[in-house]
Amino acid sequence: MIVEEALIEKIKQIPDRAELLFSRLWDISVDGMRLIDRNGNILMVNDAYCRIIGMTKDDLIGRPFSVVYHHSEKENVFHTYLIDTSHEEIKTRFERENILWNGKRCWFEFSNSFLDLPDSEKVTLSIIKDITERKNSELELIESEKKFRMLFNNANDAVFVTQLRENKTYGDFIIVNNIACQRFGYTKEEFLRLSPSAIVQPQYIEEFNRSIEKLIFDNHIIYQVIHRAKDNKLIPTEVSSHLFTYDGELTVLSIARDITERKEAEDKLRRNSIVLRNLASHLQSIREEERTLIAREIHDELGQVLTVLKIQITLLANKLRDDQKDLKEKINHLSQVIDDSVESVQRITSKLRPNILDELGLIAAIEWQTQEFKKTTGKLFSLSFSSNEVIIDKEKSTVMFRIFQEAVTNIIRHASADHVYIALNYNHPKLILEVRDNGLGISSEQIKNPRSLGIIGMKERALAVGGEVTIEGIPTKGTTVNVEIPFDNESK
Ligand SMILES: Nc1ncnc2c1ncn2[C@@H]1O[C@H](COP(=O)(O)OP(=O)(O)O)[C@@H](O)[C@H]1O
Ligand SMILES: [Mg+2]
Repeated sequence: MIVEEALIEKIKQIPDRAELLFSRLWDISVDGMRLIDRNGNILMVNDAYCRIIGMTKDDLIGRPFSVVYHHSEKENVFHTYLIDTSHEEIKTRFERENILWNGKRCWFEFSNSFLDLPDSEKVTLSIIKDITERKNSELELIESEKKFRMLFNNANDAVFVTQLRENKTYGDFIIVNNIACQRFGYTKEEFLRLSPSAIVQPQYIEEFNRSIEKLIFDNHIIYQVIHRAKDNKLIPTEVSSHLFTYDGELTVLSIARDITERKEAEDKLRRNSIVLRNLASHLQSIREEERTLIAREIHDELGQVLTVLKIQITLLANKLRDDQKDLKEKINHLSQVIDDSVESVQRITSKLRPNILDELGLIAAIEWQTQEFKKTTGKLFSLSFSSNEVIIDKEKSTVMFRIFQEAVTNIIRHASADHVYIALNYNHPKLILEVRDNGLGISSEQIKNPRSLGIIGMKERALAVGGEVTIEGIPTKGTTVNVEIPFDNESK
């Protein structure tokens, strides 16, 4: 206190206006201010200084200025000051990180100057700013820039930054990473001289232009393009681009992934599935041909034998005398067995392939099959046809008929329905079959299940003739199978 009063005494010798200004400045400044003598003792501090340091004026006035620092740096700071003053030199402006008396780390900006007071005593005035926040965010920025650079250079994808300059549709490359240079075969310097359109295969330029227009609109796009390297090698690429403003210019950050392998795998998968589909459809038609053949052979060979047997047995029966009653009964029984066998043969052959399909066509075959289902299940069947006859080629009518059989068999086996609705409509250029039930309703999992081979079979059969099967189920309301097959022939 005594020191401060003495100082105020000295300052009083300065003209009034200056004194007033100085003391106002001292009070209202948000920066810390501190006066110390040549020996390093504090003469005056303002409120802002006390706030920054976290000590009171009473803790500070008359004490060495280093009292505000942590003991680990107290001595060093104090010693440096004494050396500086003895050489009449002082660092006027600098930034420094200090640890305070309470262990808190702070960044300060110091502005120092020697002042000569009127009685020729020299004091040091320091203005101190707490710049910790600014410094930390600067350090964070440096750190994140470092991370960005690391990501940029170690990415597995080519990364380039382009700037859309005025009157230049494609702008210029401003940064490219190492992968981009390796992939395209250009050095960094060559890259920076290229137009971004130069790495796009010419056929893709229009699409590339549209992508850039969309980017400017949406700020972010993902698009596929074929890139061209320096040696003309073509590289299928998927590019993800973001638009932002940098240095006042519209800037695009693009990450380009080489999708050559993915494309090849996709092509291979597509080729394989075409092969498998063709194979399945081929097997299906072989199976159909075989069934027809077996049905015909059974019908012709076995049917003939049975017919001959029947004739012979009838002749035999006619030759019997009236008193050969026992024998007559046995022959009648045999004749009945032959009749049953003929029926069996018919049943088996029409199961293999209904003759009616080839002879009377799809509508008759569906009607016949429905009668058969009705007999064995006792369910209610409703049939509706938009025309009486459909002239459709054998392959397509077989496909339609087999799908119809599978759909109804599924209803019988799985739906717990009591009513089946069947409708066949001709709606140029499509033949449309709908098989609907009022049962449990198939679930979408059952439809998609790769083990639902009956359903897959229906879809594949339709696909083989350019058609489509869609299946829909509503729980407890039922299932609808819809089959559409394109069909150019005339119908009556
Ligand atoms: N009309 C239907 N109503 C209810 N569930 C059905 C119907 N049709 C098919 N499903 C269900 O879908 C599954 C797959 O059918 P599908 O591929 O024909 O195989 P599968 O008839 O050999 O079981 C059936 O097991 C059944 O659970
Ligand atoms: Mg089935």
